[in-house]
Amino acid sequence: MIFRRIKSLDAILETSKQQPLHRSLGAVQLTLLGVGAIIGTGIFVLTSAAAQKAGPGMMWSFVIAAAICAVAALCYAELASMVPVSGSAYTYSYAVMGEVTAWMVGWALVLEYAVAGSAVSVGWSGYFMGLLESAMGLRVPWWAASGPGWSFVDGLPVADFSHGVVNIPAIAVVMVITGLLMRGTTESARVNAALVVIKVIALVAFIGLTLPIMNGAHFEPFKPNGWFGEGHSGFGVVGAAASIFFAYVGFDAVSTAAEETKNPQKNVPIGLLGSLAICSVFYLLVAAGSIGAIGAQPVHLVAGDMLQPGSAPFNEACALPANVETLVCSNDALAHVLRAIGYQRAGDLLGLAANLALPSVILMMLYGQTRIFFVMARDGLLPERLANIHPTWKTPHLVTLITGLLVAVAAAFLPVGQLADISNSGTLFAFFMVAVSVLVLRLRDPGRHRPFRVPLVWLVAPAAGIGCVGLFVNLPIESQLVLPIWGVLGLLLYFAFGYRNSHVGRGLKPE
Ligand code: ALA
Repeated sequence: MIFRRIKSLDAILETSKQQPLHRSLGAVQLTLLGVGAIIGTGIFVLTSAAAQKAGPGMMWSFVIAAAICAVAALCYAELASMVPVSGSAYTYSYAVMGEVTAWMVGWALVLEYAVAGSAVSVGWSGYFMGLLESAMGLRVPWWAASGPGWSFVDGLPVADFSHGVVNIPAIAVVMVITGLLMRGTTESARVNAALVVIKVIALVAFIGLTLPIMNGAHFEPFKPNGWFGEGHSGFGVVGAAASIFFAYVGFDAVSTAAEETKNPQKNVPIGLLGSLAICSVFYLLVAAGSIGAIGAQPVHLVAGDMLQPGSAPFNEACALPANVETLVCSNDALAHVLRAIGYQRAGDLLGLAANLALPSVILMMLYGQTRIFFVMARDGLLPERLANIHPTWKTPHLVTLITGLLVAVAAAFLPVGQLADISNSGTLFAFFMVAVSVLVLRLRDPGRHRPFRVPLVWLVAPAAGIGCVGLFVNLPIESQLVLPIWGVLGLLLYFAFGYRNSHVGRGLKPE
């Protein structure tokens, strides 16, 4: 993972400025890196949300999301190989489209990384409680086991505290990981490799146990909510694709490793497309196994309604005795499927695997977020105090702590599906800007050395841009609205602070 080549944030910045990184990664390592970064809450938890939105048709959702990620990944790779410094899409946009756009992209990346961190923490919490109950018979009190359900009345969010108040396990896992990051704990390559192996073994075991007992009848009706949810935003096969897109996020780790890759022109696309292809195959088999084993039809309060996963009415439908054991109502989807078909012990082991492996995804998201904040503070767009390095820990402790607290608050009070959708809205915006940046830079600076070039760029980059817009407009309307509201907040902040303090604006040399 990205941690392989660094010891602290401090070190990576020094290194990226002063020393070219040693090119040591080959196609296989890069592919494994991608698989490790990609597999997480998306497949382990959000499979149930996808089923609620699309039913068995979620098989197509996985394919659509994978295809859009593949073209976006190629665009990422070109920029990452040209601008091999930290800051990801924020830095590329700064170089290509200037400060305000860069600020907006950086601001949207907060949604991508921080909110994804919250989503994975809530996903982890579901598995933690499932394991606690199944293996030890212990139950977290209902009010401490999940945040409230949310619904919208006259366009305003209303919380329903009858099924949960605050997600204490999610807060706990965020704070532990924040503490580790503040102290400068780096994951060693070996721990990471072990976690990848654990995740992959868990998925292989799941596939091996569920596929042989597949029941074709469980695939009917295949698309209960159609392709687009017939007038309900965020439903149907494409609505589920917009949500399950979350399951593929993380491949940027591969593109950011472009500068330490041997023969990047060949190995970066192999790593990106290879890891996406491997995960897609796993995801399709896991989805088929889940559907075939216990079915994946949406739950309703009244026939034909479409209930948003995690919403108050959805929680109400899931409390009905007929629905309690369904896939869509489970918080630990894959472990639940195994337990439901009689593999209690295997379900617990899968739960344990998720408990062990998901924190590394949270760590990556928090780390990515602190790095973005750090680079923005270094550029003067956020208070520079945020970029202060702790004298003994050698980490940007302040920005890490603030990030951790924000991530914990979101994880405490929002359901996993809505967090993932909000994260997707920011990610899709960032991917869109990356696709545009590739094209702008090809026009403006065609002669610059590109260690990796997107093949058929005039087809691939527009396809990525259009795909991102297509998924965005199929997110639930509330998640779509978060982006412009967040954007306006960001602009206000920019003009109140960044505009005046920016190093570029003040004529200081940008780093
Ligand atoms: N793809 C990552 C996950 O599913 C973010 O957890």
